[in-house]
Amino acid sequence: MADSMERISLTTSPNLVEELDHVVEEWDYGSRSEAIRDALRMFLAEHYWENEPGHTVRGSIVIVYDHEAPNVNDELLDLQHRANELIMSVQHVHFDHHLCLETLAVEGRGAEIQDLVNQLKAVAGTKQVRLTTV
Ligand code: NI
Repeated sequence: MADSMERISLTTSPNLVEELDHVVEEWDYGSRSEAIRDALRMFLAEHYWENEPGHTVRGSIVIVYDHEAPNVNDELLDLQHRANELIMSVQHVHFDHHLCLETLAVEGRGAEIQDLVNQLKAVAGTKQVRLTTV
């Protein structure tokens, strides 16, 4: 624990507090504060690089798409080839007859990763594109 701590107060709905208490108990946190500090670290890891687009980002991009949408496979593949310097690995899972899930492990400048995410989102047939950074 840090030598000095700062106290902040938080106003939220009873439902969120109830869910928080559930997580505190299930995950054996010592207190609500400990759980919220953990959540805050995750939130900051997800967003801090957005203010520094030149900073190196590591994480994964998860794409869910309908493989029967016209040209979707070609367009996704083409984007991935053009961004090959950012993509370390690709995992493809056939969810069902229609949906595919693709996970790209990525590393590169935040701005370039965000560009890739935006281009993937723009492909017709993608249902969800989500970036998780670590
Ligand atoms: Ni598939």
